[in-house]
Amino acid sequence: MNNLPSKPSNMKMTPLSRRKFIAGAAATGAGLMFLPRTRLFGANAPSNRLNIALIGAAKRASAHYGTLKDENVIAVCDVDKNHLAKGMAQFPQAKAYEDWRKALDHPGIDAVLCCTPDHTHAFIANWALNRNYHIYMEKPLAITVQEARTVRDHWLGKKNKLATQVGMQRHAEPNFNRLRELIHDGAIGQLREVHAWGNRKFPKPGYLPATGPAPAHLNFDLWLGPSPEHPYNPGYFASDCLSWNMYWDFGIGQMGDMGSHTMDIVWNVIDAGLPTSIKSESPETFNPDVTPVFLTTSFMFPANTWRDKIRVTWHQGGSMPKSPSDWIDLNKISHGALFKGDKGFIVADFTSRLLIPFGGKADLTYFHPREEDKVLPDLGNFQKQWTSACKNGKPDDTACNFEYSANMIESMCLGLAAFRAKEELQYDGAAGRITNNEAANQFLTKPYRSGWTMNG
Ligand SMILES: NC(=O)c1ccc[n+]([C@@H]2O[C@H](COP(=O)([O-])OP(=O)(O)OC[C@H]3O[C@@H](n4cnc5c(N)ncnc54)[C@H](O)[C@@H]3O)[C@@H](O)[C@H]2O)c1
Repeated sequence: MNNLPSKPSNMKMTPLSRRKFIAGAAATGAGLMFLPRTRLFGANAPSNRLNIALIGAAKRASAHYGTLKDENVIAVCDVDKNHLAKGMAQFPQAKAYEDWRKALDHPGIDAVLCCTPDHTHAFIANWALNRNYHIYMEKPLAITVQEARTVRDHWLGKKNKLATQVGMQRHAEPNFNRLRELIHDGAIGQLREVHAWGNRKFPKPGYLPATGPAPAHLNFDLWLGPSPEHPYNPGYFASDCLSWNMYWDFGIGQMGDMGSHTMDIVWNVIDAGLPTSIKSESPETFNPDVTPVFLTTSFMFPANTWRDKIRVTWHQGGSMPKSPSDWIDLNKISHGALFKGDKGFIVADFTSRLLIPFGGKADLTYFHPREEDKVLPDLGNFQKQWTSACKNGKPDDTACNFEYSANMIESMCLGLAAFRAKEELQYDGAAGRITNNEAANQFLTKPYRSGWTMNG
């Protein structure tokens, strides 16, 4: 992107103005020549590539190497030298960093792709927005209500300039669109109630004990980042995100993990903002170290233009909704959703769906599937949707942008606040306050280490 043929030589271009210029140049080129700029320069032409900083260089990041190879990775950052080496082997032309705060100040960055642990996400997202970078953030976008609200509000002020996407890539499965069409077109009548569930169980007793210093290849202090202090223990690094995401200081357990993907099946259909009330039930008592395994959380979402108010219930760790029929075993679906309307049910997982009209009388004459030309187009490659939005002058044209994704994870975090408060909470989404239990507002945020700010 640095080699644009007609870039004015005397103009100092900030990343933002450079991107605007590129979008403008594209439009002009296409207008004059009647050719899209990808035909003029080639989709992979150096002038059409984003300058990207990759933060968190290995593990989940490896799922993005293919997309990144079509761009220009200029900075790679990881707190683990072994993982940094893996990222640098993929992008040898990049500059290596250990501290993401320094990596974000590498000159010429257009966009950031971040695959670090969850407790750093809102920080890195907000710092990147401060520098006017496009961002792809792995899920979950945030691990507290306050983090989600901060990042959402910040992005909303820049949504006409910066493209954002949260790594809920299952959203690109055509089944997501099919479910939306079926329910919006009335296949189950008026939508009344929704459930989503995930059956994973990773019980942990508490934070791990000190085992001595971290190995030389790992900067454990930077790994902790904004989290409160904890001693090093190799157990946090035994496998992948499942080694740390149950601990409150590092994640929000299954809600942020598979919950991000599974609730997305529902979120894509219901066009919800924030809940007005939230109730959580669990046989477990609050453990200040680890998030609950078994949890049933119900959210009430207000009515909108096409549906009445609805209750959405999230089940995890063994909690399950009642099956619509004895011969359908929902337990066979590890991560699924159940939509109940006044004329039938739909059971779904990420890739398939089952329509069950109510009883023998349901003749489906009330259901008018849309014409072929109104069928929602496939999203295509999820990561490429983001890189295209960074370049094409339509930055808010991503499915899981920081508004959609922050609303969803703010709701999930409210479920954890209700679990901790042990009572049904009333929520004022505009103010971001729990209105019936002042003390429970403490659960909307969490402690951070001094010296770390979200607004850097
Ligand atoms: N979208 C998906 O399907 C999907 C799948 C797996 C993981 N994830 C998400 O990806 C993220 C990473 O998951 P993982 O399983 O790779 O975790 P992991 O802990 O195994 O790996 C994280 C990587 O980031 C590096 N890192 C840690 N702290 C860092 C920091 N402060 N600065 C720079 N680098 C840092 C680590 O050294 C490692 O290379 C998590 O947020 C997880 O929820 C998403």
